[in-house]
Amino acid sequence: MSNLLSAEQSEYWSELAQTYVWKKKWDNLISGDFHKADVKWFNGAELNITENCLDRHLENRRNKKALIFEPNNPNEPSSFLTYGELHLSVCRFANLLKSKGIKKGDVVCFYMGMTPELMIGILACARIGAIHTVVFGGFSPLSLRGRLEDSKAKLIVTHDGAYRGDKLIQLKAMVDEAIEGLDSVETVLVVKRTNNEINMKGGRDYNYETVIKSAELYCPPTPVEAEHPLFILYTSGSTGKPKGLLHTTAGYMVHVGKSFKDVFQYKENDIFWCTADIGWITGHSYMTYGPLLNGATTVMFEGVPTFPTPARFWEVVEKHKVTHLYTAPTAIRSLEKFGHEIPDKFKMSSLKVLGSVGEPINEEAWHWYHKHVGKEKCPIVDTWWQTETGGILISPMAGLTKLKPAHATLPLPGIEPCLMDENGKEIKDLVASGNLCLKTPWPSLARTIYGDHERFIQTYFSTYPGYYFTGDGAKRDSDGYYRITGRVDDVINVSGHRIGTAEVEDAINEHPSVIESAVVGLPHPIKGQGLYAFVIPVDGVEDSEALEKEIRETVNKIIGPIAKPDLIQVVEGLPKTRSGKIMRRILRKIVENEIESIGDTSTLLNPEIVEKLIAGKKELN
Ligand code: WT7
Repeated sequence: MSNLLSAEQSEYWSELAQTYVWKKKWDNLISGDFHKADVKWFNGAELNITENCLDRHLENRRNKKALIFEPNNPNEPSSFLTYGELHLSVCRFANLLKSKGIKKGDVVCFYMGMTPELMIGILACARIGAIHTVVFGGFSPLSLRGRLEDSKAKLIVTHDGAYRGDKLIQLKAMVDEAIEGLDSVETVLVVKRTNNEINMKGGRDYNYETVIKSAELYCPPTPVEAEHPLFILYTSGSTGKPKGLLHTTAGYMVHVGKSFKDVFQYKENDIFWCTADIGWITGHSYMTYGPLLNGATTVMFEGVPTFPTPARFWEVVEKHKVTHLYTAPTAIRSLEKFGHEIPDKFKMSSLKVLGSVGEPINEEAWHWYHKHVGKEKCPIVDTWWQTETGGILISPMAGLTKLKPAHATLPLPGIEPCLMDENGKEIKDLVASGNLCLKTPWPSLARTIYGDHERFIQTYFSTYPGYYFTGDGAKRDSDGYYRITGRVDDVINVSGHRIGTAEVEDAINEHPSVIESAVVGLPHPIKGQGLYAFVIPVDGVEDSEALEKEIRETVNKIIGPIAKPDLIQVVEGLPKTRSGKIMRRILRKIVENEIESIGDTSTLLNPEIVEKLIAGKKELN
C-alpha cells in the first residue's frame, strides 16, 4: 500500500496490469512523490510492449487484419496487414535498425507521411527498447532541427515525399535542410512513396526498400524495465521552445490499452478508425498502441477529409465498414460547411460509436455529427486528455454513460479530477467552475520533459502543489459532469493543435521589419481558434499585403504552416502596464469583440492605444 493512491485505486491498477504479458512481474506498484513529479509505477517489472501488441495475438489472431491502409488517392487500392504480417514487418524493421547501430535507449526520429511504415517503424523501436519521436510532417525543417538537437536522435526515417490531398510534400529535401551540419544524425532511412527526385548522401542515406531486403525475419522482443522510455513527443507550452514529453513503457501501456476498451466499448470484430496523424499523441495512443493492445483492426488514412471531395470520410467509413470513427471537432466543422446533404447520402450502417478529441466540441457541431453522421443511433464520446496524460482521462463510456452534448462527462475508473479556485484551493462544491487538476497519479502520465525535469515540475506541479495542473478550465454540473471550457494559459488551440503564443511571437519578431508582436486566440468558425497577431513595425514601415505575406512566410519557415497567423494587424503600440508588460487580456477582448468588458484602461502606460487598436481591428472574411 502507498499513500499516493487509495486502497481501491491500488487494487484497480494492479488487477488491470495482470491482464498484460510481463517478462517479470513488479515488486511494488507505485513509489515516489506526486509533489516532486517523480512517481514511478510497476517497480522491478520487465516487459516489452510489442509483445503485448503483437506476439500475444499470434495464436488466435494471426490472420486477423491488424492495420487497414487507405491511401490519399481513392483510385489507389487500399491494403492491409494481418497480425502475422505486422509482426513480421516489425521484426524486420527492428533488425534493420539494429544493423544501423540502434540500441536500447537510442532515439529514432520519424518525419513521415501516414503510411504503414510509420506505424511499423515506431513499433520496431519499441521492439528493441529504442525511443521513438515522431515529428508531424507539417512542421518546418527548422522545427525538425530543434527537436533533433533536443532529442539527439541518431537516425531519422522519412519518405521521399508525402501526399496530402493534392499536395506533394518534399520530406526528404526538408530533412536534408534540417540536418545540414548536425552531426548527431548518423543515418537517414528513406521510404519510397511519391518517386519524386531526391538527393541521397553516400554513407548517411539509405533506401529503405533496398536495405530491408537483407533484414532477418525474426527479432526477439527486448525486455525493458517498466519505466524505460517508450517515446518522446513534442508539444507547445505557454512559454519557451516546445517541450519533449517523455512517456515510459508499462504505465502507458496499462492505461492506454484499458481506456481504449472502456471508452469505445471495443468488441472483437470492430473496425476502429482514428483520423489523427501519428505525429500527435492521439495517433500514438488510439491509432497504434490502444487498438493493437486489444487485438483490434485499426484504420490508417493517408489523406485529408476534403480530398478529392468532402465525401471522403463517409466513403472510407462505408468502404472499410468502420464501426468507430474518432475525429476532431475542427474536421467535423470543416465538413459541416459543405452541407448535411453529403453525409445524408451515406447510410454508414456499420457505425456504432463516434468520438471527438482535441478541443471543446461546440453544441452545433455535436448535433450535426450525431444526426448526420451517427444517424442518431451512435453515442458520441467526447474524450478529454492531453499529450501529457498519455491516454483519455475524462470521457463517457460509449453506450454506458448518459450523454450531454459538449460535455466530456465523467472521469474514467481510477482517475481523480478536481477544480481549483482563484486562491489555489480545491473546490469542494459539486457545481463549480475552476482550473482543472488531477489529485492522484495515474500510470500513463508523462514522466518528465526530456532533459529538463525542473521545467516539468514548474509547468505542471508548481501552480497547485501536490496536484497536476492541466492548463485547462472546466465546469462541473449537478451530475458531476465536467465540461472543458478551454485553455487558461497562453496556449492557443488551433484546429485541435496546441500553439504557444510565445513561440509564434518569437518567430514573427525574426522578421527584420518587426520590433515587437503579440499573438492572441481568434474565435474561428472552423479551426475553433485562429491566431491574431498585433505587430509593431520598425519606423517608416507601413501595413501592406506584402509585409503580411512576408510575416506569414517567416512563421511558416520557423515553425510550419500550422502556426501562420490568420489575421495580422500592424499597430504603433501595444497596451502595456507601467512595468512594461503587455496586457494580453485587453488584446483578447478586442479580438473577441468584447469591447464593453475591457474595463478600466487608465492605469496603462499608453491608454490611448486601445481605441486605435479597436478602430483598426481586422475581420475574417
Ligand atoms: C489540449 C491537449 C488529447 C489529444 C489531442 C490534443 C484540449 C483535448 C479535449 C476535449 C475539450 C480538449 C485541451 C487540452 N482538449 N481534448 N475533449 N474537450 N478540450 O492533445 O495537443 O496535448 O492538447 O487539448 O485544451 O489541454 P494536445
